[in-house]
Amino acid sequence: MNAVIRSTGTYVPVRRMSNDELPKHLDTSDEWIVSHTGIRNRHLAADDEATSDLSLEAARKALHRGGVDPAEIDLILLATATPDYVGFPATACIVQDKLGAVNAAAMDITAGCTGFIYGLETAKGFIASGFARNVLLIGAEILTRHIDWQDRNTCVLFGDGAGAVVVGAQEGGEPTGVLHSHIRAEGSGARLLERTAGGSRYPFQSGTTPQNDTYLKMEGRQVYNFAVRVIVETIQTLLEKGKATVDQIKYIVPHQANIRIIEAAAKRAKIPIDKFYINIQEFANTSAATIPIALAEMQGKHLLEPGDLVLTVGFGAGLTYGGNLIRWTAPHH
Ligand code: ACO
Repeated sequence: MNAVIRSTGTYVPVRRMSNDELPKHLDTSDEWIVSHTGIRNRHLAADDEATSDLSLEAARKALHRGGVDPAEIDLILLATATPDYVGFPATACIVQDKLGAVNAAAMDITAGCTGFIYGLETAKGFIASGFARNVLLIGAEILTRHIDWQDRNTCVLFGDGAGAVVVGAQEGGEPTGVLHSHIRAEGSGARLLERTAGGSRYPFQSGTTPQNDTYLKMEGRQVYNFAVRVIVETIQTLLEKGKATVDQIKYIVPHQANIRIIEAAAKRAKIPIDKFYINIQEFANTSAATIPIALAEMQGKHLLEPGDLVLTVGFGAGLTYGGNLIRWTAPHH
């Protein structure tokens, strides 16, 4: 049984913030941000928008484009590091209700920026077991609500958005769709990227002011080094698993965290940079949403044809990392 991508959808909030707006309250500059990260803009959720709202918009587009009725969805997987609520209910359940996916199970995936990559392999597993014929997989984040806007080391890096795909069962024939995944964790690096407030270790105390750890904290340089190493490892592992050469890959779709990370990994792996699809300049780091946003954007631009080989690769909080080797199946929208 193949697990194939039937359609994609994306939603980014209307509000667009360019680098030029940041120096008004922060000691930074457009020049520093572009030269150190490749980021020029990011989109910010409106005050009344939650992660489930962004998810819902992206999901509706993916379902519409795939001609899939919400009632045909057997499972909703929502990869996010910024759910509507700390703990429960799962954001996926809120989406399930609003979507009218009355026959679907629903759960969130917490794997940081690697969530969508973990989600594709999870969807494949549920399809292989015979449980699901259609899985709605969403990556969605509102990270801009969890960063300290006074911390120039982090606040310039992130944006909000959502991307969704419908993963469907396809019987028989040659292997296609999600061919191979390489997903790993390196929990020893958990402290390098964290937002801990509100959990069982650091519960919110009523009547007290939120502490610093309400916000995302990151050891940028160490995450950078980790990222370059695991991107190279993941690409090489997936090429070996798929018995493929780089030339046979149409696009590598990396997690969009920093263009310099992508460039350094490309150089180390001896892969031309134009093999990598990059849109960080417009959306910044939307964590679990960067890869599905990129896939939807690429499909909209007709950059992908059925039969193309696509390789996703990402890393994030946990620490987690990995990638998927995909034989593209979705027709043009
Ligand atoms: N504007 C101006 N100066 C800045 C800014 C800024 N926004 N941010 C940092 N600086 C300064 C620093 O204070 C430092 O100054 P100093 O030398 O006087 O101390 C100088 O720039 C260099 O700082 P570095 O941290 O060495 O800069 P670096 O080139 O490493 O870039 C960055 C920092 C962009 C954070 C990089 O390390 C990086 O991208 N790391 C990986 C981050 C990442 O991928 N995160 C996502 C992970 S997944 C997830 O999001 C959940």
